[in-house]
Amino acid sequence: MDKIIARISEELEKAFAAAGYDRKYAVVRNSDRPDLGDFQCNGAMAAAKEYHKAPIMIAEDVIAKTAESTVFQSEAVKPGFINIRVAPEALVSYLREMEEDEHLSVPQEEHPKKIVIDYGGPNVAKPLHVGHLRSAVIGESVKRLVRAVGNEVLGDVHLGDWGLQIGLIITELQERRPELPYFSEDENAAYPEEAPFTISELEEIYPTASAKSKEDEAFRDRAMQATHELQEGRPGYRALWKKIMEVSVADLKRNYHRLSVDFDLWKAESDVQEYIPQIVADLKDRELAHEDQGALVVDVSDESDKKQIPPCIILKSDGAALYATTDIATIYEREKLFKPDQIIYVVDKRQSMHFVQVFRTVRKAGYINESTELTHVGFGTMNGKDGKPFKTRDGGVMRLENLLNDIEKEMQVKISDNRNVKEEDAAETAKIVSLAALKYGDLSNQASKDYIFDVDKFTSFEGNTGPYILYTIVRIKSILERAEAKDREAAEKAAALLETNTAEQRALMLSLTQFGSVIEDAYRDLAPHKICAYIFELSNEFNRFYHETKILSEADEAMRRSYLNLLVLTGNVLEKCIDILGFSSPEHM
Ligand code: ARG
Repeated sequence: MDKIIARISEELEKAFAAAGYDRKYAVVRNSDRPDLGDFQCNGAMAAAKEYHKAPIMIAEDVIAKTAESTVFQSEAVKPGFINIRVAPEALVSYLREMEEDEHLSVPQEEHPKKIVIDYGGPNVAKPLHVGHLRSAVIGESVKRLVRAVGNEVLGDVHLGDWGLQIGLIITELQERRPELPYFSEDENAAYPEEAPFTISELEEIYPTASAKSKEDEAFRDRAMQATHELQEGRPGYRALWKKIMEVSVADLKRNYHRLSVDFDLWKAESDVQEYIPQIVADLKDRELAHEDQGALVVDVSDESDKKQIPPCIILKSDGAALYATTDIATIYEREKLFKPDQIIYVVDKRQSMHFVQVFRTVRKAGYINESTELTHVGFGTMNGKDGKPFKTRDGGVMRLENLLNDIEKEMQVKISDNRNVKEEDAAETAKIVSLAALKYGDLSNQASKDYIFDVDKFTSFEGNTGPYILYTIVRIKSILERAEAKDREAAEKAAALLETNTAEQRALMLSLTQFGSVIEDAYRDLAPHKICAYIFELSNEFNRFYHETKILSEADEAMRRSYLNLLVLTGNVLEKCIDILGFSSPEHM
């Protein structure tokens, strides 16, 4: 379905042509002065130069040709602006079409793409902490957004499961329980089905081992040796690593589920190690890589670079592959398995140099189709109220789980105080609303910017917050619930919508027509914050309308049903938006 602005442009172009001017001047944009018009066109000013005429005369010529328009009314004002107001019948018919459109007016990609989104990026055996929050929240929303416009999308968690962290765990466990069969030299040892640790033990083992390795050089050497042997395929270590993965992945899945984040692919760094030897050989053979102080590097600088781009290191001087090597191999595999049109990385913006190096290397080597877009959506840091990276009260790294628990607790108190929710539903409702508070608090900021995590602000039911949006949706649901069944049924039909009769109703309707454009913009820029800005405005328009309008007590049946229809549509648009943002609404709150 087209956008309302497209319908206006089309008419205005005809008017420019009919008045004898080039249609290219009929550029329509949102009005800077909503009190004067919904849209505006400044083309008469630009045309004045070509036609050597006063802009106001051109504007007047043009609007004379739009007198019969059923789409809009227009007015010429000095020095040559054309102010445009959508005609009431056009507004109604647009919204009716929107209601009947299976995509609710969300524009669909003409040439759907296959897109891989790399987000989450947790590391096994380490608990998720606040640093993982933004990738999960933004990544999930970007995934839903690009899917909503009709692309085929695969979200990949890209687990970090292949580094020293595993060697450290193996070594620590070996010290504690040398009798376990995993450490036996016997190639035919049998390994038990059950993992030798629980997730909480695993989460204790890792930091202990990591701290030890910093003080105890011999321990560190053993851990590096264990990492090496694991990577070489020592059966006992492989079996143990599988157990670490099993226990850790189950826990990660539980945590991501709680965040309503789900991945189509649970691929890991280890999955692509098999490609590294051939990639290294290929880069060497084709002289794309060369030795530099013992390391193997690819030069990725370009003459036009404004700042120096250091070479991409493929192998360290001890022959070990690095983070970049794994990312290169992952692109290699994604091309082989999926032939994507685009790969989007939702990763901390501090890694932007890493991605520049990786992207240039794979382009240089031709490991990815030339037309495949490689995009890094870099996000800023989540800070505490002191403006410094978010920490626990005693200065430690905050576990994501604890952060969620804290918000839920606070929300449960608020919800119980409100008394609109049955006591037995309070916990469940608090979960839904907390998630909205957390995600909206994050997503309403432009991703690349740092933001301040402020629980009090995020959980407030007023202002630009998730709970405020949910509150608006719940208000709509509750009015519809209270409406008579007959009215409700009638209101479900798009035809129930009537022309506007108040300014608030008109403003709400106009705001609804913007939905398609907003999603299109958000998709173009991969910017969920634009959807947040829109639903905040839409919620405000709705609440203004609600305060000015008697809905259920409206005596005129047709008008009452028209109002209810507007509620249904507003509710559907808000629900669709929050679904793209990655949260949902409760029945009451
Ligand atoms: N595991 C990494 C970390 O914790 C993030 C991975 C991001 N994704 C990627 N393809 N490099 O920093």
